[in-house]
Amino acid sequence: MPSAYILGIESSCDETAAAVVRSGEQVVSNVVASQIAMHQPYGGVVPELASREHLRAIVPVVRQALSEANHTYSSVDAIAVTQGPGLAGALMVGISYAKALAFALDKPLIAVNHLEGHIHAVLLDLRQNNNNKNKEQQKGNHELQFPVLALVVSGGHTHLYLAEQKGESWTYENVGHTRDDAAGEAFDKVAKLLGLGYPGGPIIDRLAPHGDPRAVKFPPAQIKHRDRRAGTHANAEPDADRLRADRPRFDFSYSGIKTAVLRYVESHHMQAAIELRRKAVASIPKPRFEDYLARCDKQTLDLVASFQRAIVEDLAARTLAAARAFDVATLFVTGGVAANSELRRTFDRNAAAEGIPVYFPSLRLSTDNAAMIAAAAYPKFLSKDFAPADFSAEAGMRL
Ligand code: KG4
Ligand code: ZN
Repeated sequence: MPSAYILGIESSCDETAAAVVRSGEQVVSNVVASQIAMHQPYGGVVPELASREHLRAIVPVVRQALSEANHTYSSVDAIAVTQGPGLAGALMVGISYAKALAFALDKPLIAVNHLEGHIHAVLLDLRQNNNNKNKEQQKGNHELQFPVLALVVSGGHTHLYLAEQKGESWTYENVGHTRDDAAGEAFDKVAKLLGLGYPGGPIIDRLAPHGDPRAVKFPPAQIKHRDRRAGTHANAEPDADRLRADRPRFDFSYSGIKTAVLRYVESHHMQAAIELRRKAVASIPKPRFEDYLARCDKQTLDLVASFQRAIVEDLAARTLAAARAFDVATLFVTGGVAANSELRRTFDRNAAAEGIPVYFPSLRLSTDNAAMIAAAAYPKFLSKDFAPADFSAEAGMRL
């Protein structure tokens, strides 16, 4: 089979990204233009600003990805683009551009679910590692064993999927999702609450080792009832009919811990110190980690460390319970929160204790990127699963 080069385009949230991937396994180029600095003053992504910025960035980002890959518009074999889930206006920018390119160049167009992209980001690195310096680490694992249980944990999602391979195609069954906030959303909201900027995950990850994770006790999330209602929250699965009644569920809930942090801040009178930190950091043009660390007292560091420990242990415990229940052969942990160092250590340790191999994408491919979109498109390219010319963005798209 000759190599196939797929140009991937991703614009579902606050990153405009393009990449060229060879045969679903080798990242030839990977360009990500982040809008984080633009959204930072608002403490979260502003959809209108995101669309406008995608419009500005999309052409230069795609050009750069092609040129770094030594490719031209006409030398790639197919164009892949994120269809959803994400911000409708932001998705439309990538989709319109991808459609125009595919039409003008007469290339196949492949629509990719962003969540499937996160899952395939793991595979990219797995295969890539087998060909180069991490050979030892991955030895013997390049023949991926199914079923795979994939935890996709990011700013918008905390989902568990059972994945199987049928021919070239992958199939997915959702066996768990968050009932309220995504884990990354909890990191972002707690960071905002504590005056630690946006996004919250990376800063909390780095501050946590400076605090005592046993200092504050958070009660574990209680999920008593099976989720049978139509989803009322943006992150909840909107169609309960899709969930098979005969299967155990492994749902998550992270709005409780966010509220518990707020109560702790109030009952320990931390607001004045938080406001001081917020103002001090706002006066620094590009605040660095050290600027935050210098302005955090022991109480704040202990709270941050305890919060992170609670989330990480909950994610690992529920995921491993699902892995046991479904007797899976392999575990994937992916999405922005999979960049978290304590999360990686905890999964490595707990999965090893169960004898289940666990894989993460490289740090660069954990957060949003377009290489994962091009990788997930490859099985669809092989089976000629191309998008119709009139396909559109699906903001609430499910996997
Ligand atoms: O996958 P992603 O880039 O975008 C979504 O699809 O949501 O994930 C972004 C999320 C944010 O909530 C961010 O705070 C979180 O991933 N994140 C982290 C870390 N790096 C990014 N959370 C915990 N630890 C990190 N090191
Ligand atoms: Zn994502």
